[in-house]
Amino acid sequence: MRIDIITVLPGLLESPLNYSILQRAQKKGMVEIHVHDLREYGAGKHRKVDDYPFGGSAGMVMQVEPVDTLISGLKAEREYDEVIYTSPDGEKFNQKMANSLSLLKNIIILCGHYKGIDYRIREHLITKEISIGDYVLTGGELAAAVITDTVVRIIPGVISDEQSALSDSFQDNLLAPPVYTRPADYKGWKVPDILLSGHELKIREWELQQAIERTQRLRPDLLDMDEHV
Ligand code: ADE
Repeated sequence: MRIDIITVLPGLLESPLNYSILQRAQKKGMVEIHVHDLREYGAGKHRKVDDYPFGGSAGMVMQVEPVDTLISGLKAEREYDEVIYTSPDGEKFNQKMANSLSLLKNIIILCGHYKGIDYRIREHLITKEISIGDYVLTGGELAAAVITDTVVRIIPGVISDEQSALSDSFQDNLLAPPVYTRPADYKGWKVPDILLSGHELKIREWELQQAIERTQRLRPDLLDMDEHV
């Protein structure tokens, strides 16, 4: 899979995309992540990429031309399955959407700009708008990092079988059961006996029952969803 991220703040994405599982996935060649600095496509000495909005409202708006030039250049090299724009008014991101994105070959993510982007970009270049939740970030970079992280870790082979992404919370609309490690007794805080019993089948049953109980208590909305991921 290849992910091209377009931003005016490339530095903001550097660190989250280059640690741990994401770093390993890139080293192993399972995903290519390219961060493009939109400013390199800006006009004039100052590499201008935004301007005042028509109609006189406050704030600066990202201009069409630099975005179009950059996206057209990428599209000339390969076909893209989706051109995503991160915005609070997009479709709400969830595990199901991450699963379908992880099956795609090439995607572009354009990071939103704090006062918005020229609407023609959304009309003519964007194929999907995604929000990561009902709150407003200063820009789309953190949203792009969240989407990339969530998608990359479920690309087959990126995480090993024993850490299988299939047992994640949300993959079956259930929260994950509790986990514990050594020591079995810390200051009298004990690990549930069942986990020390060595009885594989009973342990799996206990985990499922814990997952259901925690979901009912903490996220009953997940159990009402008819949509299964
Ligand atoms: N940009 C600003 N807020 C955002 C959000 N909640 N999701 C995606 N992009 C955003």
